[in-house]
Amino acid sequence: MVSSWRSQSPGIRVIRLWLGVTWIYAGWDKASDPGFLDKASATYIGRQLAGYASNSPAGFIFQRLIADALVVGLFVMIVEFAIGLATLFWVAPTLAAFAGFAMSLGLWTAATWHVKPYFLGSDSAYAVLWLAYFLTLVGRRRRVDLSLDRRGAMRVGALGAIALLTTGLGRYFSKSSSIVKIGTQKGSTSDSNHIIKLADLSVGGTYEFAASSGVPSVLFRTSQGVFAYSEICTHQGCTVAYSPADKLLVCPCHQSIFDPFDSAKVLSGPAPSPLAKIKVAIKGDWVVQA
Ligand code: FES
Repeated sequence: MVSSWRSQSPGIRVIRLWLGVTWIYAGWDKASDPGFLDKASATYIGRQLAGYASNSPAGFIFQRLIADALVVGLFVMIVEFAIGLATLFWVAPTLAAFAGFAMSLGLWTAATWHVKPYFLGSDSAYAVLWLAYFLTLVGRRRRVDLSLDRRGAMRVGALGAIALLTTGLGRYFSKSSSIVKIGTQKGSTSDSNHIIKLADLSVGGTYEFAASSGVPSVLFRTSQGVFAYSEICTHQGCTVAYSPADKLLVCPCHQSIFDPFDSAKVLSGPAPSPLAKIKVAIKGDWVVQA
């Protein structure tokens, strides 16, 4: 492992260190987030998948994964740890670099596809960085050797065990203050686009529902009427949550804050544009999607 660092140029060492540490941190960030596997939380992996399903050109894949969100969440955590550790400790490094590239590419299509200009979404930069690192490791051989001797197989096994252990450890060092529970009633639109009976939504109340397009959305009722927004953050597609105490919509991923009472405009954070408006109206006794 030490000799691998010595034999690399300073530039490649910097890239390797950055990618390795970042992937371990990404795994830890999820493992220590008690909301990541909690269905009632704004950071729940299933809500992120729902956002990807409605935003990504490969949305149909993410739509299928929603039912197995817990498995997907565990898999993502373990793989992130494994890629980061393998990169730092030089275990199957070429395979790890390719896995890092594939993961970044997937996230680019899933989470950052609509970020404009594209350079504001970090996944594209990571995909290119991993690809460049992978090609450097492949070098002029133009052939990827994935064969493992006995020692190599043992190191891969040990690394997998450490990745599993670290994922479990996250539960014991959880960021308890980071969990954002949803503070609204919940439901979904019926076939006829009825969202909720007006009598069931008091003035000042909010109601979460799935719009007819499937986009998770939040409805507001004020003395002036009703309005609704998509809950998909315009930064990288996480699901925002309404904070009744602050009267703001907050994205748990990178803390973009939107003002629902001013066209969901961005008050702070990296989101490039307001949340998408969902057209709703009052029709008789009902709030309906227009
Ligand atoms: S996804 Fe990054 S701020 Fe919302």
